[in-house]
Amino acid sequence: MSDLYAVIGNPVAHSKSPLIHRAFARQTDQDLVYEAILAPLEEFEATLDAFRARAGKGVNVTVPFKLEAFHYSSLRTARAARAGAVNTLKFDGPEALGDNTDGVGLVTDLEQNLGRPLAGRRVLLMGAGGAARGVLLPVLERGPAALVIVNRTAARAVELCRVFPEFPALDGCGYEALEGRSFDIVINATSASLGDQLPPLPGGVFATGALAYDMMYGKGLTPFLRLARTQGAGQLADGLGMLVEQAAESFHFWRGLRPDTRPVLEALRREA
Ligand code: ATR
Repeated sequence: MSDLYAVIGNPVAHSKSPLIHRAFARQTDQDLVYEAILAPLEEFEATLDAFRARAGKGVNVTVPFKLEAFHYSSLRTARAARAGAVNTLKFDGPEALGDNTDGVGLVTDLEQNLGRPLAGRRVLLMGAGGAARGVLLPVLERGPAALVIVNRTAARAVELCRVFPEFPALDGCGYEALEGRSFDIVINATSASLGDQLPPLPGGVFATGALAYDMMYGKGLTPFLRLARTQGAGQLADGLGMLVEQAAESFHFWRGLRPDTRPVLEALRREA
């Protein structure tokens, strides 16, 4: 019988994870099936329990359940513990091993796909919610010269810095404090694009040739990427590469194999 995996979310119908993992499985000759499961908002745990009763081996967890997945985990990787959120679960007998592959997915996309090493660079991370926290540790571990978390509610950015006291390059502030500062890489981890809104970024935050990166993706440019273009960013990227790279890291966590992400990302871009 094929090994069973799934992505669980609400909503989940739009998820590209089944396409991506089926492509990885074909490429690496793995006998698995991968489903998309819609969990009712109040029934995440019950949905997981039912999936495990069908001998399910692992799941990807997406909006809005990453925090619940963290609590559901009986063991967590160090990066999941620091992220405070779990996007990947592996079931091993009674154990539910929780991991978080979002940060590694972002770093791999930035450094390998987009050719933007983080070491020594000035990085601005917009947003201080779950999405921002989920990626912080792997980004900090690459040694940026500065990593500034900027948030509409400045106190949340300052608070988030306290989770990573061993990184002196990390700092938190509100948007007005960015006046006169510029960055090599600006990452949008806010949910503002969902409401077609824009965080109040002052002009001048994009250094010459800077990369503007939106963790969201969709058809065409997001509002943040449109703003970045008018403010002189040198390179624009959406979160599709991060999606594929976090999936590859999850696949490795489950199967111990690393798929080649390039053809999968190229195929998704052709369809978009
Ligand atoms: P997620 O899990 O997607 O990170 P979240 O924890 O609700 O969701 O966090 C959403 C983030 O987007 C927050 O940093 C939020 O700023 P506040 O902490 O000030 O609420 C940010 N955000 C949402 N809408 C925004 C907007 N219109 N402008 C700027 N920031 C916005």
